[in-house]
Amino acid sequence: MEDFVKVYDNSQQVNSYIKEKDLQKPEQTILNKYFEKIKNSVLLDVGIGTGRTTYHLSGIAKKYVGVDISQGMINGANENFRNQNLDFKVCDARNMSIFDDNTFDVVFFSFNGIDHIEIDERILFFNEVKRISKKDALLVFSTHNIQNIPKLMRLKWSSHPIIFYENFLKFLKLKFHNLKRDFSNKKVIKINDGVHNFGFVLTYINPTYQKELLENYGFKNVSCFGYPSGNELNSDELINTTDPWIYFSCIVNN
Ligand SMILES: C[S@@+](CC[C@H](N)C(=O)[O-])C[C@H]1O[C@@H](n2cnc3c(N)ncnc32)[C@H](O)[C@@H]1O
Repeated sequence: MEDFVKVYDNSQQVNSYIKEKDLQKPEQTILNKYFEKIKNSVLLDVGIGTGRTTYHLSGIAKKYVGVDISQGMINGANENFRNQNLDFKVCDARNMSIFDDNTFDVVFFSFNGIDHIEIDERILFFNEVKRISKKDALLVFSTHNIQNIPKLMRLKWSSHPIIFYENFLKFLKLKFHNLKRDFSNKKVIKINDGVHNFGFVLTYINPTYQKELLENYGFKNVSCFGYPSGNELNSDELINTTDPWIYFSCIVNN
């Protein structure tokens, strides 16, 4: 079992996710933009955790299926929605052979779940999306922004001594956990960014490069949305944004 799955399986993580119910602003923007497509769709929600997005998507879609690689998270989702007869399964986004070809109108992989998949393996997910999607399906996912790293790694000043002390400790830990990593002039990097108590290493990507990859893989109408604003970003804004993560929506051209 991969290290990050052990972290998500842990009951403390499950309990912290169980409290989360709100959509992130870019998810809301995308939901508004594609409401007609999402309404009455057969929708696959990948990496659902305990079902934060389920609250918002399952009532709109005609058929909703939620999957996660972590059995602990799926148990949490089942607990959250125990009276609602929803379909939750343990499944790895890189191998979704439990689903037939041409099944889904919409696929979500929200809140940076894809960042647990190394860059060379992401193509497995994108190929699976193409296989299980109907023609012109909608794909939505988010990924961490490499352009946010200077902000993330900087020592944050506070005039409050305790807060400054905590910031200083976090700064040292970030340095320590990433001692051997070179973040300069890269399109893709792996980083331990401190989430879940420095529990795992994530993949961060240059958002313009991510957009190009999607277009090269044949996805159409690629749009980008910043977090936390939820605003759609044009190409110039994408080059300059230091938002911590970016949502992408695109149309599956299979
Ligand atoms: C940051 S959490 C987000 C959970 C949920 N989407 C939310 O927004 O609250 C990322 C989730 O992606 C799941 N995940 C990571 N890699 C996955 C994979 N290869 N296949 C399926 N789920 C995966 C993790 O188990 C975790 O539940």
